[in-house]
Order: sequence, then structure tokens, then C-alpha cells
Amino acid sequence: MRVTITQIKEMKQKGEKIAMLTAYDYSTAKLIDEAGIPLILVGDSLGMVVLGYSSTIPVTMDEMIHHTKAVVRGATRALVIGDMPFMTYQVSVEDALRNAARFMQEGGAQAVKLEGGEIMAETVKKIVSYGIPVMGHIGLTPQSINQLGGFKIVGKTPEAAVRMLNDAIALDEAGAFAVVLECVPEPLSKLITESISVPTIGIGAGKYCDGQVQVISDLLGLYTDFMPKHAKQYAKLFEIIKKATADYIAEVQAGTFPTPKQSYAMDESVLAELKKSSRKH
Ligand code: KIV
Repeated sequence: MRVTITQIKEMKQKGEKIAMLTAYDYSTAKLIDEAGIPLILVGDSLGMVVLGYSSTIPVTMDEMIHHTKAVVRGATRALVIGDMPFMTYQVSVEDALRNAARFMQEGGAQAVKLEGGEIMAETVKKIVSYGIPVMGHIGLTPQSINQLGGFKIVGKTPEAAVRMLNDAIALDEAGAFAVVLECVPEPLSKLITESISVPTIGIGAGKYCDGQVQVISDLLGLYTDFMPKHAKQYAKLFEIIKKATADYIAEVQAGTFPTPKQSYAMDESVLAELKKSSRKH
């Protein structure tokens, strides 16, 4: 049985912490699903950690749908959330609804995520009213990186903190089933968590959030261009991958790979017949 938004909301009431990870492909989704992750975000961070862009801004709906489909094929238990890319939900509520529906119909996701607080409340309300669960995302919103002036902590001044609290309340009232808090001072995320009815999922927002999210490539040590302070490397796959590749190159060059174990045999009589007939030509 797939995890539902009702179960996720109940986790907050029961005081159970929620773990969420990003995934972008079938194999990774299958592994983290088998490991028991309840929430998988097909994040537009894929633009940076998978596609090699310098921000999430160039990511398109078609790219997101392509990767969401792969993740949904791999994850049979986790709730899969599609991350709405830049300018696919801001221009009009109709656009937002149409693109959210694409995540569900074409991608097979069970929910969508979008960035923005109060300003997105009407849009969230509309999408939710048509049966599509929405996760909000406030604090550092990477799609607004040019306006924010870089990847930095948000909500440090009294005005910014009040604005963020109001954003969280507006998303809760609009019907969002959870809200991501990214790069938010811990005391502010604690206050927000206590002030809204739905779970907060933190990334660089401290320990008081109802849940945590990490980018899988940071967690596994696969993306080494940039490592945010809030990311924790639970494995160093870059070392394992580089060593495995170097070992492979060395064995191919030395002629020690492949061995009979990786090769396919052929019946001697068939080979003899083949050699005989090839001599006739
Ligand atoms: O795109 C993403 O991976 C995200 C998470 C960092 C929350 O939005």
C-alpha cells in the first residue's frame, strides 16, 4: 500500500518524524523505497545534480515528467511528489492546474510541490480543490535565486521572519498537506512548526521541523560541485565510483578483464563447422 497524505499529516499529530529524500531515476527510487522512505521528491534540483545546470531555472516540465515516471516505476510504497519547475505555475492559476495535472496523469506522481507562500495561496487552493495534493516550499526558494542574491539563509530580520510565518499559515489555510522550510533559522522554523497544522519538512531549518529532506546526491556523496552546510554525507560514493572506474580501466588495459566468468562459451563442434565452412569461401 502506498503512503497517503493522511498518514503523513497524522505523523505530525503523533509526533513521528518524517524522512523525505529526493530521487530522479528508477534504480535509486527502488532502493530508497525498499529502505523504507515514506516520501520521495522528484526535485527540480535534478537540474543541478543530474543535468549539470548551474541552477534549477532551466528545468522544463518535460524533463520533470520524464524523471517522475522513472521514479514512480521504482517506488511502489513511497508517496511520490513532483516538483513544479520555474514558471510552470506562476503565470496563471490555469497554467498551474494544467501542469500539476500533468505530474499526476503523465508522471504518475501522487502530489506536487511548488515554491512561494502567501502569493501562491490561491493557486494552491485551486490545485487542491481539484484533488491534487500540494506541498508548499518557503524560505530559500531556489527558483528565486536571482532575486534573493544567492543561496543564503532567509528570515533573519523581524520583517522577513513575520513574512515567512504568514506564508506558512497561508499555505496551511490554502490546503497544502506539508510545507518545506529551506535555510531557515532554527528558532523561526520551530515557531512555524508549532503554528501550523500540517507537517514542516526542513532542509537547513534545524531539528524542530516535523520532518527532514535531503538531496540524495548530497547524502550519498555523488554530487561534489557544491556541498551546502546543511547537507550530511552518509556515504562517499564518489570515492567508490572513481576507484571502480580506475580499476576497470586498468584491467581492460592489462587484458585481465573480461575473464571466462564474464564471457560466453560456444559448442566446439559448432565452431569447427563454422571454421570449415568459412574456409570454403
Ligand atoms: O528540488 C529539490 O530537491 C528541493 C528540495 C531541496 C526541497 O526542492
